Amino acid sequence: MAATLVIFGASGDLTKRKLVPALYSLEAEGLLPDALEVIGVGRSPLADEAFRDAMRDSCDLFARRKPVLPAVWGRFAPRLSYYQGDVTDLSSMERLRRFLEQKEAARSGGQGGAATLRDGGDRATGGVTAGDRLFYLAIPPDAYPVALSVLGVSGLVARARAGSRRAPAVSVASRPAHRVVVEKPFGRDLESARNLNAVAMSVLREDQLYRIDHYLGKETVQNLLAFRFGNSIWEPLWNRSHIDHVQLTAAETIGMEGRGAFYESAGILRDMVQNHLLQILSLVAMERPASTAADAVRRQKAKVLGSLRPMTAEDVRRWTVRAQYGPGHGPGPGGQEGQDIPGYRQEPGVAPDSQVPTFAAMRLFFDNRRWRGVPFYLRAGKRLAAKVTEVSVFFRQTSRLSFGSTAKAPNVLTFRIQPDESLSLHVAVKVPGEPLGVAGKDMTFRYQGAFPKELPEAYETLLLDALRGEARLFVSWDEVEAAWKFITPILDAWDKQPPSTLVSYTPGSWGPTAADIPVKNEGHECRNLS
Ligand code: BG6
Repeated sequence: MAATLVIFGASGDLTKRKLVPALYSLEAEGLLPDALEVIGVGRSPLADEAFRDAMRDSCDLFARRKPVLPAVWGRFAPRLSYYQGDVTDLSSMERLRRFLEQKEAARSGGQGGAATLRDGGDRATGGVTAGDRLFYLAIPPDAYPVALSVLGVSGLVARARAGSRRAPAVSVASRPAHRVVVEKPFGRDLESARNLNAVAMSVLREDQLYRIDHYLGKETVQNLLAFRFGNSIWEPLWNRSHIDHVQLTAAETIGMEGRGAFYESAGILRDMVQNHLLQILSLVAMERPASTAADAVRRQKAKVLGSLRPMTAEDVRRWTVRAQYGPGHGPGPGGQEGQDIPGYRQEPGVAPDSQVPTFAAMRLFFDNRRWRGVPFYLRAGKRLAAKVTEVSVFFRQTSRLSFGSTAKAPNVLTFRIQPDESLSLHVAVKVPGEPLGVAGKDMTFRYQGAFPKELPEAYETLLLDALRGEARLFVSWDEVEAAWKFITPILDAWDKQPPSTLVSYTPGSWGPTAADIPVKNEGHECRNLS
């Protein structure tokens, strides 16, 4: 054993549903570095065996590679152990540091240490080195500031010394590496994000902090970069002269699922838009990076996010819609027919007069040469008709022969991020048998079946990258700051709006009809996703 992954929040939902199942699937694929041990840390006392049993049940339910295979579990289980501790308590974390030091010393004594490990990402080391520590904060976001400073003060995380004080955006070869992964949301507005970052940077360098946005780990989100820049045909068309507008939708069917109390302090803008949706847009709108290296890609994403046109209170009033689902009737959470569906305000942990939006729609612009004047329309919501995440790029209909019906068939390039991961190009084709009649049809590429390998889960990719020190799919501070600069004025303006501006929508619908307004006001049709 050479490296340690410490997960704080070991009994929480994220660990159970995503992290450990992702690690198990990596083990099943033979991708988990041989030299990795996983320690779950939680406040309650729990024996290692009980922790392993609980994690096995979770893997059986949630792992991509389920059900658990005894042979794979036999390799995976010995890596797992439990440690009772509290990441916000200094003495508890000092104890954990001593515990890790003893383990690390025993390993290097017993196994010849780093000298026996080949570095460089081969199968045996998987790119990890003896003594590497990765700390995962799977804890409530309001505990991040204390947890980060305790990690530093306790000495669990040592600030990397290599390189200049101005840290590069990509991990450098300071070994062993100590890294920290934090979940979103990183802060709850611009000011709190800056404060949190200041705490983080007092104990870590930028290249030791891995801000996770799990959408970046999705294969189809990564494909945005590959498809745009791996094909030379798009670049000449990818600008205001040829693109009319862009629509991005992230629709979910689920409601609160027991997260009402968290959602009350988040709402749709903090939960989905500031991070997942703006990250997707940054990949659609960014300039070509000099390379695929983390710093090159993240610099361009931060730059385009920095060019988002700030909204005034009047823009917010005209070009955004905030809404909340009311009670309804329809398929229940398990898909059963004829259930009463509680409205957001009836969800556990939610105030009966809550003004927190569960749906948002808006129009935004990037003020730069490529995109000036091109509207980008976003909508995201809970309890909608289907689970769909999709970006559609609508091309202008200029200078082509008129075939009558073609007006109804604009060229649209659609990236279906989930489900049915695919991309399609809507084009006009001749209708057989008619004298030059044309109709709009889709040319579609589907991931399913196109490659021998199944698509990995986002957390599998991201955990492996964080262990190896690959930061491309993590969010840099500059990106986070630019995103909050854009979102915070909207949050502020929404807070000041009268309660009557919060629209209600029926669960199972496509959201409030007012949600179409940013799109329809400009003569565009909202993309039908049913
Ligand atoms: C999370 C949000 O970040 O993303 C959840 O906190 C949301 O509210 C989830 O349901 C959606 O992720 P996915 O991968 O299911 O689209």
